[in-house]
Amino acid sequence: MRRLILAIPLLLFIQCKQQPAAPTGLVTEKAMVVSAREEASKIGSEVMRKGGNAFDAMVATELALAVAYPFAGNIGGGGFIVYRKNNGEIGGLDYREKAPLAAHKDMYLDSLGNVIPNMSTVGATAVGVPGTVAGVFEVHEKFGSLPFSELIEPVIALAERGVVVTEKQAKRIESYHDRFVEVNGDSTKFAQAFKAGDTIKYPMLAKTLTAIKEKGKDGFYKGEVAEKLASFIQEQGGFVTVEDLERYEAKWRDPVVFNYKDLRMISMSPPSSGGVTINQIFKMIEPHNIGKYDHNTARPIQLFTEAARRAYADRNYFLGDPDFVDIPLGVLLDDTYLQNRMKDFSFDNATLSSAVGHGEVEIVESSETTHYSIVDAQGNAISATTTLNGGFGSKLYSEELGFFLNNEMDDFSSKPGVPNMFGLIGAEANSIAPEKRMLSSMTPTIVEKDGHLYLVVGTPGGSTIITAVAQTILNVHEFNLSMQEAVNAPRFHHQWLPDYVVFEPDGFSKELIEELKSKGYKINEERTPIMGKVDAIRVLPDGKLEGGADRRGDDTAVGF
Ligand code: DON
Repeated sequence: MRRLILAIPLLLFIQCKQQPAAPTGLVTEKAMVVSAREEASKIGSEVMRKGGNAFDAMVATELALAVAYPFAGNIGGGGFIVYRKNNGEIGGLDYREKAPLAAHKDMYLDSLGNVIPNMSTVGATAVGVPGTVAGVFEVHEKFGSLPFSELIEPVIALAERGVVVTEKQAKRIESYHDRFVEVNGDSTKFAQAFKAGDTIKYPMLAKTLTAIKEKGKDGFYKGEVAEKLASFIQEQGGFVTVEDLERYEAKWRDPVVFNYKDLRMISMSPPSSGGVTINQIFKMIEPHNIGKYDHNTARPIQLFTEAARRAYADRNYFLGDPDFVDIPLGVLLDDTYLQNRMKDFSFDNATLSSAVGHGEVEIVESSETTHYSIVDAQGNAISATTTLNGGFGSKLYSEELGFFLNNEMDDFSSKPGVPNMFGLIGAEANSIAPEKRMLSSMTPTIVEKDGHLYLVVGTPGGSTIITAVAQTILNVHEFNLSMQEAVNAPRFHHQWLPDYVVFEPDGFSKELIEELKSKGYKINEERTPIMGKVDAIRVLPDGKLEGGADRRGDDTAVGF
């Protein structure tokens, strides 16, 4: 009897651990879109209400974000999707930008071999050949069920009607004002002072989208729009030509797939580093049963940090565009190799990154990308991350065509050992070459549990994308948080170099930081930006969907 009484709390505990957390985010019966703006989530969700599938909704949401969220949503940038159909079939699409034909390895170096400041980040010289429009057509041709015109019409209508400025957006536009003017002159559209509640209309973008509606992919990559775009970029000193645009193609890629405990994860393969790097992180922590510790306490933070440190060291050295470099994936993802990488890990002391590599660098600019997650009524799922790279990309804005152009060329390694704007240090594998794709950290991910769809996850955040996605999955699966709680939870990050752990503001106690410091962890206490804006969906045991929309932004879940 006494034994039984003693066992009750243990049984309750096990019981608690096994029951999935009750949802705290939006719950819908059938279908959902979670994205950076309510307008885009609504357009995507409406498409599915009208009978469209998740792929149709992807096309509409991606294009709607180009209107509603010009900070990162785009037709002048690129991205990746990972999908899982309801029959279990999976795949990935790479619509990443590529280097123009005129690009070459040393294009951002001066005569002394030094990196020329801003050349790969600001203005026309930073622009890679955009991939987004090719991406949506590829998705639509392969899997779409509604006519393309029906998907783009609500987006054109939104551009004409205009989008109401939110508080956060007004602040952002204001903070970028001087850079807009520097790059585009003071008569540029975004030099105007917009305040919250104002409506911004996009008539020129509506015109470009109409050309795409009428002529398909060629409406962007050939003819009038392509000619205007290429001349504009070249007049501003950039390298993208009509030929570059004509030659652009999105590419289907096999995702990275791996098991973690009872989960099967499906994530983006190179030229994104996301899938390979989270695969390494999960496999390095798997033997340690991270869920037995309390959430966001010293031990799980140490374990995660040490795995991330080692994974990013590999990322920066080995990964690049698989069409140009051989990536030793077999070795990098081998269990024995990964367990060996963690051999010197101990909870007593931090491993210093100098023991894994060397160098000391700063992360200079915080910038933006955007992620959205979709599940349709048939159970098809799409995880999509899309970007201009920096906030508003290169800041170069075509008044005539109505959109911003990316500064994705900065994701290449301009010079081995010299950090890019995320402080990432690259190597030969990610050097510049004509038509090569620059290495990405974007990590659109889908997780299965017991063979069924379980989570759809992703986020912006540059180099912090990978750790934010991994932590969100762990938050649900190991720490038993709801989808919304997992998204809300404060995040931390380590990327090998610079050798410090970064914590989000207000989420971690002084005592915890002191404890980690006493073990030799270097902590970035100066600048603590928010990390990512995770937009995710969890499939609940009863088949309903729970959204996790990141309150760090204006992100919103919409569904039915
Ligand atoms: O592809 C990449 O990894 C970067 N261009 C992503 C940029 C990004 O997430 C900026 N957002 N904060």
